Amino acid sequence: MANKVHRRPAIKTETFHGIITTSDQMRHVFELLRRIARTDGTVLIRGETGTGKELVARAVHNLSRRRKQPFMAINCATLTPELAASELFGHRKGAFTGAVRDRRGLFAAGNRGTVFLDEVAELSLDIQARLLRVLQERTIVPVGSTDPVKVDVRLLSATHRSLRGEVEARRFREDLMFRVRVVPIFLPPLRERPGDVTALLWHFIDSFNERDYRRVTAIDDRAYEAILAYHWPGNVRELHNAVEYAMTIGEGTTITLDELPPELRGEHPPRSDAVVSLREEERQRVLQALRQAQGKKGKAAEILGVNRTTLWRKLREFNIT
Ligand SMILES: Nc1ncnc2c1ncn2[C@@H]1O[C@H](COP(=O)(O)OP(=O)(O)OP(=O)(O)O)[C@@H](O)[C@H]1O
Ligand SMILES: [Mg+2]
Repeated sequence: MANKVHRRPAIKTETFHGIITTSDQMRHVFELLRRIARTDGTVLIRGETGTGKELVARAVHNLSRRRKQPFMAINCATLTPELAASELFGHRKGAFTGAVRDRRGLFAAGNRGTVFLDEVAELSLDIQARLLRVLQERTIVPVGSTDPVKVDVRLLSATHRSLRGEVEARRFREDLMFRVRVVPIFLPPLRERPGDVTALLWHFIDSFNERDYRRVTAIDDRAYEAILAYHWPGNVRELHNAVEYAMTIGEGTTITLDELPPELRGEHPPRSDAVVSLREEERQRVLQALRQAQGKKGKAAEILGVNRTTLWRKLREFNIT
């Protein structure tokens, strides 16, 4: 007997600077972005990995009066402590071994434009102090120099953590938090916008259909169920990759369950020690937050930088009562 299949439904989506959605919460974010873009306010974008933080940052820049000026992005998690100051604020020739010539940092390169600090919570306390000065005085001091240089940049930052939680753990300066988060924007995880799973699924299928040789017009019932039931920890990026996986390894016009990545088929990838200890680390973080919040779940969720539903899921997953 032929399995039931699902074909492309008629879905009403909204697209905003490459961000596709069916969710009212996201529409509200778009409205906020339109307003924010008119100003020079600093914006902190919060959201899990793959929720579209970088797309949002680019949208703000492209809507702003700075659109013709540079958009400079850097992932703070990849900055090494020795080179972070130089990468961000530049250095003078001879400032340290290997500094054979002057270097313009990210802020100077982004002058008159927008600087996007991804994973801003990962900055060291030393760099946080320097960044605070940049925001307060609108000048940078290159490494090896004492002369401040004027810069005019609009700062956007992103993090998957709760900055408030980082402040409480004394890993982030409170004064800097208030500076970078004048307008906070929260991007909900994909699992909390179920309409978007379907909409983006078909959107990605359409775009691969145009690009690749395989043309997909349907998804079989079991594959469809698996896609809807999955919790998408990697959010939109993971959905995109799952579609690409199916398009690459499968054949014919219908996507079937065995063409989906193992995680979606409910198979657990072989557990390496690294995975076990990451899980244990996460369990400890949850316990620690609960202790800090004296058992209040709403507070604990805030400390962890997740919403209540996510916390509730984690408590169940880790058998914490
Ligand atoms: N709503 C959306 N519509 C279409 N594409 C999206 C959407 N959200 C995210 N994407 C795509 O998913 C990928 C991840 O998005 P992006 O890089 O903006 O996420 P991120 O939040 O910055 O992730 P990370 O925290 O891992 O840096 C990109 O390829 C982006 O184009
Ligand atoms: Mg990003």
